[in-house]
Amino acid sequence: MNAPTPNLPEVGLSQLCNDPRIVEAQRLIRETINEYSGRITDIRTPEPELAAPYEKLLSEMGDLRGGGLYYPYLGSGIGNGALVELADGSIKYDMISGIGVHICGHSHEGLIESLVEAALSDTVMQGNLQQNLDSYHLCKDLLTLATNTGANLDHCFLSTSGAMANENALKMLFQKKSPADRMLTFENSFSGRTMALAQLTDRPGNRDGLPQTISVDYVPFFDQNDPEESTKRSVDALQKLLNRYPDRHAGMCLELIQGEGGYYSAPREYFVALFECLQQHQIPIFIDEIQTFGRTSRMFAFQHLGLDEYVDLVTIGKMSQVCATLFSDDMKPRPGLISQTFTGATSSIHAARFILKQFQNGGFLGENGRTHEIHNRFTAHFEKMHTATPDRITGPYGVGGMVAFTVFDGSPKRTKEFLNALFEAGVIAFPAGANPTRVRMLPPLLAIQNEDIDNVCEVIQSVLNQIAEPPQSAFDGLA
Ligand SMILES: Cc1ncc(COP(=O)(O)O)c(C=O)c1O
Repeated sequence: MNAPTPNLPEVGLSQLCNDPRIVEAQRLIRETINEYSGRITDIRTPEPELAAPYEKLLSEMGDLRGGGLYYPYLGSGIGNGALVELADGSIKYDMISGIGVHICGHSHEGLIESLVEAALSDTVMQGNLQQNLDSYHLCKDLLTLATNTGANLDHCFLSTSGAMANENALKMLFQKKSPADRMLTFENSFSGRTMALAQLTDRPGNRDGLPQTISVDYVPFFDQNDPEESTKRSVDALQKLLNRYPDRHAGMCLELIQGEGGYYSAPREYFVALFECLQQHQIPIFIDEIQTFGRTSRMFAFQHLGLDEYVDLVTIGKMSQVCATLFSDDMKPRPGLISQTFTGATSSIHAARFILKQFQNGGFLGENGRTHEIHNRFTAHFEKMHTATPDRITGPYGVGGMVAFTVFDGSPKRTKEFLNALFEAGVIAFPAGANPTRVRMLPPLLAIQNEDIDNVCEVIQSVLNQIAEPPQSAFDGLA
């Protein structure tokens, strides 16, 4: 299905970008950015005189958006790799990257060059009636990557958010399996925040006050402390649901590494046991890779786990800047079901192509690739801290570029206290999961250096020491 790319002579934007005047302008931009960005070299505390106006900005921002920010974070618009400058003059290590979006870190010269190229394009957005060559190339690149170890994926529909990519996948499933009216997913899953996805997400708070749109059945996830028994428990639960609602499930939507659920995964055999059961009942398998895309030893986590033969639909997002639904011919929607005014900004589509090239050419993938190296460097530090003070930090430590740990008892209060103190000390991370609540990091894989990892872990260690025995009053203020 993924036919060879037809040859076109260099036309339009690519011709424009190679004009010597643009090449020179790009050189000047690069030189200027490097000069500004190069001043950002280490963690820095806020400028005291900016404290009051910054506070005011934060409070107004909260009012404007109708709810306060999680962190007092308003970026200045400049950074340097893993370091970001905030508008109060402080500099921090950004280890969450907008929840996995800023894979190139901050002020990456190659990414900016590609954004400038996109800015020279004739339109801001691409979509239903406005597809430029860029959209074609990106769909093609994504399908080539997705199918290179045998997955049966023939089509790629771009989209502006992970939620929209998932909605499109859901619609294809329901149309294909009509009149099925139920979906399967795992306990602790997260799928997004539309009316339908709020039902699929296993968090009552996310659908508080919303009417029920689709009916969802939850299968318990793998427990690494009890592999055999938990595999049996999951397969039994699935089988029971399939028997209870024959022909009512349009598909199973799942994350191979649970993101919002706390960075837990399972071995290949676990998924195979479930997938075989689903296939016996002709239930399509829809893998949500919105958080996992580009974070394991392969571009797709289903490839990392060797599950290519089972996938019917896959969605990606976050680090790809533009989101997408990849699907097999069998899932192809009838005309009218899927269309969007915007499928992506020209700049995000251009950036996505730049980022995919970095992954392909930069030695990130593979069993011993850079992503693996980054993971191992973090976990070596965590192991060392755990050995010294086992009550302060524990694993599991996540997979590849999805790094996590539990602090103290993993209570929401203690974890938030740690995260706030970590932010103050100059490192930005984020919580995930419940029972225990975990600390997670999605480092900027294309920018982070070994020295950055060592510095970040030094800060983690010092914050753990600092809050190990807090006075009761300090606790109360931070909760
Ligand atoms: C696994 C997963 N699916 C879907 C989404 C929704 O993506 P978006 O926030 O871009 O709509 C997310 C976002 O965190 C996610 O982690």
